Amino acid sequence: MTSRLKTLGLFSAAALLLASGGAHAQALSAADAAVLAGPCANCHGTDGKSNGKIPPLAGRPAATLAAMMKAFKGETPPPGTTIMNRLSKGYTDEQIEALAKHFAEKK
Ligand code: HEC
Repeated sequence: MTSRLKTLGLFSAAALLLASGGAHAQALSAADAAVLAGPCANCHGTDGKSNGKIPPLAGRPAATLAAMMKAFKGETPPPGTTIMNRLSKGYTDEQIEALAKHFAEKK
């Protein structure tokens, strides 16, 4: 019952976001992005607000986040990369764009 209500809430929040999204067609919904972003919290903190050694993601420009993810995924990840090169390979470019938007919208 409670989880059903939660799910409904998530979907209506996503619908609102999409409705206010303007002309840009969203391939992945905000709800999809939130699900994809779940595991990132293990290292980057809840909603990407880390306060440890791992860089925060929250509130940073979506273009920056997406570019970094794509760099990790590429043939030559930035020097010093430890884990994001392996992790980022699990996401399509479309999912990366959705993740970047998700974290950019966190305050
Ligand atoms: C197992 C821990 C772990 C998980 C899970 C994880 N990250 Fe990371 N992330 C790191 C570490 C560590 C770095 C620093 C680069 C490196 O060593 O790979 C990093 C760096 C980044 C950066 C670059 C930030 C900067 O300022 O340089 C981005 C963007 C990023 N992660 C996005 C994500 C996203 C999106 C997810 C979820 C899909 C995610 N990460 C999941 C550990 C993790």
